[in-house]
Amino acid sequence: MKPIQVGLLGIGTVGSGTFNVLERNQDEIRRRAGRGIEITMVADLDTERAKSVVGDKAKVVGDAREVIANPDIDVVVELIGGYGIAKALVLEAIAAGKHVVTANKALLAVHGSEIFKAAAEKGVMVAYEAAVAGGIPIIKALREGLTANSIQWVAGIINGTTNFILSEMREKGLDFDVVLKEAQRLGYAEADPTFDIEGVDAAHKATLMSAIAFGVPVQFDKAYVEGITKLTSTDIKYAEQLGYRIKLLGITKRTDKGIELRVHPSLIPAKRLIANVEGPMNAVVVNGDAVGTTLYYGKGAGSEPTASAVIADLVDIARMDGSDPAHRVPALAFQSSTLREAGQELPVLPMTEVVTSYYLRIRVADEAGVLAKITTLLANAGISIDAVLQREADEVGGEGSTQTDLIILTHETREGEMNKALEEIQKLATVLAPITRIRKEELN
Ligand code: HSE
Repeated sequence: MKPIQVGLLGIGTVGSGTFNVLERNQDEIRRRAGRGIEITMVADLDTERAKSVVGDKAKVVGDAREVIANPDIDVVVELIGGYGIAKALVLEAIAAGKHVVTANKALLAVHGSEIFKAAAEKGVMVAYEAAVAGGIPIIKALREGLTANSIQWVAGIINGTTNFILSEMREKGLDFDVVLKEAQRLGYAEADPTFDIEGVDAAHKATLMSAIAFGVPVQFDKAYVEGITKLTSTDIKYAEQLGYRIKLLGITKRTDKGIELRVHPSLIPAKRLIANVEGPMNAVVVNGDAVGTTLYYGKGAGSEPTASAVIADLVDIARMDGSDPAHRVPALAFQSSTLREAGQELPVLPMTEVVTSYYLRIRVADEAGVLAKITTLLANAGISIDAVLQREADEVGGEGSTQTDLIILTHETREGEMNKALEEIQKLATVLAPITRIRKEELN
């Protein structure tokens, strides 16, 4: 069978990895795919760099539209990133009848509905394994391996930059700003790290997993997004003393009322396998009603790990090219005719409706009755306490200090109730600083 011809748009880190792994493993990949997969065209603004990667094995051009216009190209691999030109090129490639492979989570999380609809109308595939958790085949696991299940929840460490920062903060007792600079020096964090540290990148990935897990449209605009910039090494230390680690989790959960879709720092029991995922590694836990809890671990970024996912998509496309679209694995796991409309049946819940438990750190005057006042306000809101830790005042504020930290772990409650209780507690004259609240997930 004729090899499938691929055009790469962008040949930076992931593009070079894709080219190199395809070259290195071409015989095995051909035996698996049933036909060759050849990158015959590459578009990059830096044509010299592109030529230094592909030599004379592919035609290098500076204009991505030349790739899309080439009738010999069967698949366009978009590795440019962002919502701008990448969106236009993906839609143009679809309109030209090309299959598309993309690692662009931002594009799909925000414009996925439009892109998948255009692809369905044209009968082409849009594949995106590399968009979530890099080399971990989590899209395939959710969409195919777990297809028997009613998925209950998904929780993942899906941003390596923030996991590296949190790991360093815990191990070395350093503050966020210090570790961020170190992460930038080592190349784990970008010069502008906003998308990573503010949780946006993780929310893009959680949005995609939510859609595939529950058969709903991608709804990034409804995701709750909170990053790690306000976390202190003090909270990481206290959490550890209570048997927990703090991780930035992307969580999506099915409830009776709708779907939770949220990214925020979370305490998780230190004994869970996922709590021990350190450095820039990623991991995703999926709970299905039949299978129970499953865990997927690996590199969430990097040249060849991400190329591994891109090429897996290329192999799928090489096998399914020319097949009846109705017989393919649906892009969002559920047949498009059965996708629930946004907001219907399983709406994404506002954060006030989310039910979770909490870690509270409250800086208080170290005097009689303070704890009683706080626990009374929590009890009035129907919030049950799981554990309380009080530090020695000297340890917190230095010798002779009259202030201390109260750390309270609660049982599950609705976030709306917690917000009201915290407002009341904050008003107490004996509460001396803004209260720190971090959500807690048992993941069992
Ligand atoms: N910047 C991402 C991370 C990798 O730190 O995990 C690409 O999504």
